Amino acid sequence: MPVTELPIVIVDAYMPTSKRLVLNRRGSSVWEIESERGRHAVKLGYSNESGEGPAQPWTALAPGREGYILNRLNEEATPYGEWEEGTWNVQPWREGPSLWQLWEGCRVPGSTMEPLQRDALACAEVLAELHGKGWVHADVQPAHFVVGSERVHLIDLALARGGHVPAGLDFPFRGCLVHYEAPEISRSVLETGWAEPTQAADVYAFGASLLISATGGRAVEYPDDAPRPVQREAIVDGRHRDVTIPGPMRSLVREMLRYDPKDRPTIYEVGETLS
Ligand SMILES: Nc1ncnc2c1ncn2[C@@H]1O[C@H](COP(=O)(O)OP(=O)(O)OP(=O)(O)O)[C@@H](O)[C@H]1O
Ligand SMILES: [Mg+2]
Repeated sequence: MPVTELPIVIVDAYMPTSKRLVLNRRGSSVWEIESERGRHAVKLGYSNESGEGPAQPWTALAPGREGYILNRLNEEATPYGEWEEGTWNVQPWREGPSLWQLWEGCRVPGSTMEPLQRDALACAEVLAELHGKGWVHADVQPAHFVVGSERVHLIDLALARGGHVPAGLDFPFRGCLVHYEAPEISRSVLETGWAEPTQAADVYAFGASLLISATGGRAVEYPDDAPRPVQREAIVDGRHRDVTIPGPMRSLVREMLRYDPKDRPTIYEVGETLS
């Protein structure tokens, strides 16, 4: 169902002077709004009943779950609540390119631009901050690192784990974007339908994010149009692509993508190596 309007509670609270639909897909709609209170991202969740497979009511709960977690983790308040179709939150708009956009020049064929280690370090630092609080992000991907002029922001905490979440907003973890899924996560999702996110799986996902942003290549090779279970099987089978990042990050990313989670560095070790 396309979401064409902002819920009235949000319009009344913020009185936006401008609004822009950023994306609307798979049960999630993101808007950028501007008002006297500044620039914000509005996230609306709704039941994803279109497309293949059964309805996924968890998408309706995701912004509420994220709103609760942002309030636990950050000093600034993140309003969240319910609307007709699901839950919503309003969070500060983070200005800047994503890691994927930032390293675009490295992926141009024949380019001599090398990914900057200091960008990777800035991303590692925000993930280390989250892990330091005892949390796991569970959906680390290049689009979720927003590289601002002052600092990097790690967005989309809807799937994060690490503390209590009210039962009415919670849902089980059924995997993330498969390109960034660690083998143990893919195996568990294939076998049981769900998985336990861990900091080691976040490190793997961050390694896969660095690799794809720098080279355009996924950590594991499978056809673009392969169904998700087939993609997950390829990950479990360990069909790893050679890590081709130029420069000193190459051996680090190789370690981050190790098959056995015990063999991967912690995010603190990743940060130390990068600095
Ligand atoms: N606080 C924010 N500041 C700036 N941009 C944001 C913010 N929140 C979301 N966005 C933009 O909207 C996109 C989608 O947001 P987000 O990942 O949180 O939602 P999602 O429903 O989980 O989408 P996806 O399925 O792509 O992960 C982000 O990649 C980013 O471009
Ligand atoms: Mg997301």
